[in-house]
Amino acid sequence: MAQHNAGQVADWNGQSGERWVANQARLDAMAAMFGQAAIEAAAPATGERVLDIGCGAGASSLALAARVGAGGHVLGVDISEPLIGRARALAPQDIPVQFRVADAGSAELPEGAFDILFSRFGVMFFDDPTAAFAHMRRALKPGARVAFVCWRGMAENDWVRLPMDAIKGIVPPTAPDPEAPGPFSFGDRGRVGRILTAAGFTNIAIAPFDASVPFGEGATRDAAIDDAVKMTFEVGPLSRVLADQPDDIRARASAAVRAAFAGRAGERSVMIDRATWIVTARNPAS
Ligand SMILES: C[S@@+](CC[C@H](N)C(=O)[O-])C[C@H]1O[C@@H](n2cnc3c(N)ncnc32)[C@H](O)[C@@H]1O
Repeated sequence: MAQHNAGQVADWNGQSGERWVANQARLDAMAAMFGQAAIEAAAPATGERVLDIGCGAGASSLALAARVGAGGHVLGVDISEPLIGRARALAPQDIPVQFRVADAGSAELPEGAFDILFSRFGVMFFDDPTAAFAHMRRALKPGARVAFVCWRGMAENDWVRLPMDAIKGIVPPTAPDPEAPGPFSFGDRGRVGRILTAAGFTNIAIAPFDASVPFGEGATRDAAIDDAVKMTFEVGPLSRVLADQPDDIRARASAAVRAAFAGRAGERSVMIDRATWIVTARNPAS
């Protein structure tokens, strides 16, 4: 049988995983506000059991563990060996959290075990999201809650739209399928609702949550712009588009992206709006 989500397994155990680990502290800082909004929507209570999907380096799992306390439990699941390695290294000994390398959409999970299905930007990468959510639902108790944060469309997210627009004409254009596994595959609110409904969830609510966060930072304006360009080349969709391009194309792309970010630069940071959905739902009570 073909491996589920094989492309993502390869990517997150290869270049994407390695780059994410290298930039983990600042990626966590950028994602913190969005993860916190999803945790508030999940409203974890003392003693509850939480399944954290695509937990990466584990920051959200640790935040959830602090909320459920010693009597609760958090299982962080991720397909990336390097990211789970980092999560284990960062986790304090005395916290009720466990990390596991597994494909959340197909791996064996304890049945009817969890009060909350949670994710911070980790559920947009399944080849077959409906099957994956139906699979994960079986790990939930009757009446369990779902809360996750995911990106809205690329057109609303300037941290990707600006550099992507800037490289048009330098890199041959691609027309990616907006529903293909990737960070923006849950951008269409209607599609997210349909996936969760087909997977058996009820009480689905999908609300926008926007915030402006520093994308590049430095001691000077120029250093901040350089930092934003570096981030763009290291993580996210543009890094994948440019990965196999020759050096001269990468140099031209870098100059164009730099010019695009310069228009947003302040004294020491490049502030960029980010647009997400906070999604909540329920596993039916019986
Ligand atoms: C954008 S990163 C977010 C990581 C982390 N939640 C955070 O906020 O820092 C997406 C994560 O989803 C993981 N992922 C992708 N597909 C997965 C799958 N099928 N099962 C489990 N994890 C998956 C990736 O390995 C990656 O760590």
